[in-house]
Amino acid sequence: MLKANPNYLNLRGSYLFSTIGKKVAAYTQANPDKQIIRLGIGDVTQPLTPTIIKALHDAVDEQAHAETFRGYTPDLGYDFLRNAIVKNDYEARGCEVYADEVFVSDGAKSDSGNIQEIFAPECRIAVCDPVYPVYVDTNVMAGRTGEFIEAKGQWSNVIYMPCTAATGFAPELPAEVPDIIYLCFPNNPTGSTVTKSELQKWVDYANEKHSVIIYDAAYEAYISEDDVPHSIYECEGARTCAIEIHSFSKNAGFTGVRLGYTVVPKDLKDVDGNSIRDLWARRHGTKFNGAPYIIQRAGEAVYSEAGQKEIKGLVSYYMENAKMIREGLAAAGYTVSGGVNAPYIWLKTPDKMTSWEFFDYLLENVNIVGTPGSGFGPSGEGYFRLTAFGTHENTKAAIERFKNL
Ligand code: MLT
Repeated sequence: MLKANPNYLNLRGSYLFSTIGKKVAAYTQANPDKQIIRLGIGDVTQPLTPTIIKALHDAVDEQAHAETFRGYTPDLGYDFLRNAIVKNDYEARGCEVYADEVFVSDGAKSDSGNIQEIFAPECRIAVCDPVYPVYVDTNVMAGRTGEFIEAKGQWSNVIYMPCTAATGFAPELPAEVPDIIYLCFPNNPTGSTVTKSELQKWVDYANEKHSVIIYDAAYEAYISEDDVPHSIYECEGARTCAIEIHSFSKNAGFTGVRLGYTVVPKDLKDVDGNSIRDLWARRHGTKFNGAPYIIQRAGEAVYSEAGQKEIKGLVSYYMENAKMIREGLAAAGYTVSGGVNAPYIWLKTPDKMTSWEFFDYLLENVNIVGTPGSGFGPSGEGYFRLTAFGTHENTKAAIERFKNL
């Protein structure tokens, strides 16, 4: 008899951004004349840059000729892109990463969700709280999280590492030892960062306890301060304990194009000496047929001189928004953080409103959509996330609306 996977039936409600999407759709249907400003999901608004567009066109044109037509792509990625990644994202920063440790994919969301499949079901995970919901939900799907404790808003078998104002929204080393540690810096949702020496403590801890760190570096292009690491492989010993996930979405505007990559070093082994890199290669080869050639050529163009200049322009554009939001809200009396090394601003809700109360209040009173902090975990309650990925015009208008609240 057909039965659904019981782990999936344990999932709590719908995915956070789908819930928000439904609420906003219902509001707009009831209020069609309202001008909504969307600063909720971290989706980019600026077009792809000229160098990327040209690379896409050229790669499309190649498909019209037998000599340059491409069929299936190598499942781990084309060498031209893997080599460009190693040269620019690692060698340039003095990090030891090899092309055969780079796995090109359709984006960081799938990789951060899928990577847990290669670890044993009994592995315990530790996550920052608040947390990007994909890490927890995909472990719920894998049956790794235990029971949901309603009163705490937590899963019984997950180690939550509270990231609060008192800790600068960074986690502390957990007392209970996890097998898999999810870290994301610059952080989604709080926009916080850690310094290289702070990250080194995590690497040392993971090596000592024989845990793996899954390091989500999707927002590294937004780092503006010198002592904030762009890659976990800047830390000594990271090759034996860390996997790193990257995205082309937030730096180059590929949210709709889809491209990302994951690094799994050959030195990373489980307790019995099994190569984690080989398992991920096996999994990738079985379940994934490679990112499209055309898109990988666009990814390669990101690393060209012109491409790098253009994406720096995109990042500056969004960071001007971040500054505008930070300063505008602070001037309006809000307690804000983030937005310095990240495109997210984390603010305290006023008047002790819950995160969802503030969501409704903003939507109904000033037609602004943000993301309720509690949607990212219990420590996010009483907080709210705004993204800097809007247009300048909308961001400016949103600040004015906040001021008039
Ligand atoms: C977010 O808003 O947190 C992100 O855009 C979601 C994602 O990248 O999947």
